[in-house]
Amino acid sequence: MICAAFIILDLTLIQLIGEYLFTQKVKDEGHYAAEIALRIADSWSERDSGQLYGLVSDIAAENDSRILVTDPYGVVQVDSGTDQMGKRLYLKEVADTLSNGKGTYGYYDTGSGSGWFAFSVYTGSAIGIHTVPLSEGARLTGALVLISSADELYASLADMQGRVAIWMLIVAAVVLLLVVIISNTVLNPISDLNNTIIRLSRGDMRARVNTRGKGEFARLGQAFNSMIEQVDRLNTTRNEFVSNASHELKTPLTTIKITTETLMYMDPNDHEYLKESLTAIDKEVDRMNYLVNDLLSLVRMDSGEQRLSLAELDLGELIKDTVARIRPFSLDHNINVSVDLAEDVKLTGDRYKLQQVVYNLVDNAIKYTLQGGHVDIEMRKIGRNAVITVRDDGIGIPEKDLPHIYDRFYRVDKARSREKGGTGLGLAIVKQIVTAHSGTISVRSKVDSGTEFKVELPLQGPKDTASKQGEEGRR
Ligand SMILES: Nc1ncnc2c1ncn2[C@@H]1O[C@H](COP(=O)(O)OP(=O)(O)OP(=O)(O)O)[C@@H](O)[C@H]1O
Ligand SMILES: [Mg+2]
Repeated sequence: MICAAFIILDLTLIQLIGEYLFTQKVKDEGHYAAEIALRIADSWSERDSGQLYGLVSDIAAENDSRILVTDPYGVVQVDSGTDQMGKRLYLKEVADTLSNGKGTYGYYDTGSGSGWFAFSVYTGSAIGIHTVPLSEGARLTGALVLISSADELYASLADMQGRVAIWMLIVAAVVLLLVVIISNTVLNPISDLNNTIIRLSRGDMRARVNTRGKGEFARLGQAFNSMIEQVDRLNTTRNEFVSNASHELKTPLTTIKITTETLMYMDPNDHEYLKESLTAIDKEVDRMNYLVNDLLSLVRMDSGEQRLSLAELDLGELIKDTVARIRPFSLDHNINVSVDLAEDVKLTGDRYKLQQVVYNLVDNAIKYTLQGGHVDIEMRKIGRNAVITVRDDGIGIPEKDLPHIYDRFYRVDKARSREKGGTGLGLAIVKQIVTAHSGTISVRSKVDSGTEFKVELPLQGPKDTASKQGEEGRR
């Protein structure tokens, strides 16, 4: 398509250049013919045929042309050749000049040299004929006829057109090369990206963009691929999350279903069994309640729907209150809980969420410590941070599990954790809240020796202004 357009453009251009050069040549010759007419004007008006012949033959010889002069009837009076003397010239150009008194020109290919052109000195070649009117005052007295070879002109035109054609071919080849390069570097990556998007939109999550090379498109491809990988990971995490959540809800639901079915067929007077069954159902409902609350808390924070409700608070007081709520549980398990808190530590944070952090950490420490064990809770102000440490001498966490303990639904020992009522969401929530407060959490643990969680929180609150906007928002 592009090539065809180029060839048409080439041919048109060659044609135009040829026409331009031809017109220039015609003009030059016209001027020259007019000049000759001037030079012979005197001799012509005096009808000095000898002098006229001499003059005309000299000029014709000078320019390798043939010059003839006719009277007003087209009869040759002077001929730089000799064979047309006294003959009438049946030339259209001569007739035109003699009838309208204007200069004219014509080009002929004399071909084989037959016919009228046989007289031409240029037999067998291309000739140009210029005629100029000769006059005395207002009276037309004849016509000057200049015949010269046009071979040179045609040859130079052909030569020039050949060169233009070669240049055009070179330009066409360069353009073609550029088209190939552009299509490889620009169009191919775009169509690749387009195809990948179509495959992705049809659900083929394995589709990736080709990222060969170094340019902008390769970088765009890499960014696109990493975005898709992230989306894919999110998708997998979300599916896992939903399946884990359903699974966790299924267990209490099954227990409730079995218990209620048994209740339907039992002796209504067996009050003891009735109470036992209802207590079991109540426990499972509580469990589901906790689970749903945890899930909602995680999902709301994830989606940014729930922002932190920030206020300046006394961290020591907050920890003391939270530990007081959980202490009865520690007494049940015969675990010593000691608290050592720095006084007057003021921190900007979300009270309810920070209580959740402390509660979950202390709850874990008690849950995963054997009877008679110890749990120490410490809080210090270090620089611009408050550091909360929850230490126990419980069962500890194996090293291989440490990187996963903040994952949702992750439990080191599923059976044991479940038996203690755990679903593996506590630490995921803790980490999410600490991160939202621009804090960090770290853990050190040794199996059968104990575990230590350390939470560092900036006293001035979260650095992110977006979370601060919710200050008046919640609850
Ligand atoms: N102090 C600890 N000592 C030993 N293991 C721990 C301790 N804290 C957490 N773990 C391990 O990490 C896992 C994840 O803890 P996380 O608090 O997220 O879940 P959970 O306590 O099982 O359930 P949930 O907190 O949702 O009720 C626990 O199942 C447990 O195996
Ligand atoms: Mg927990």
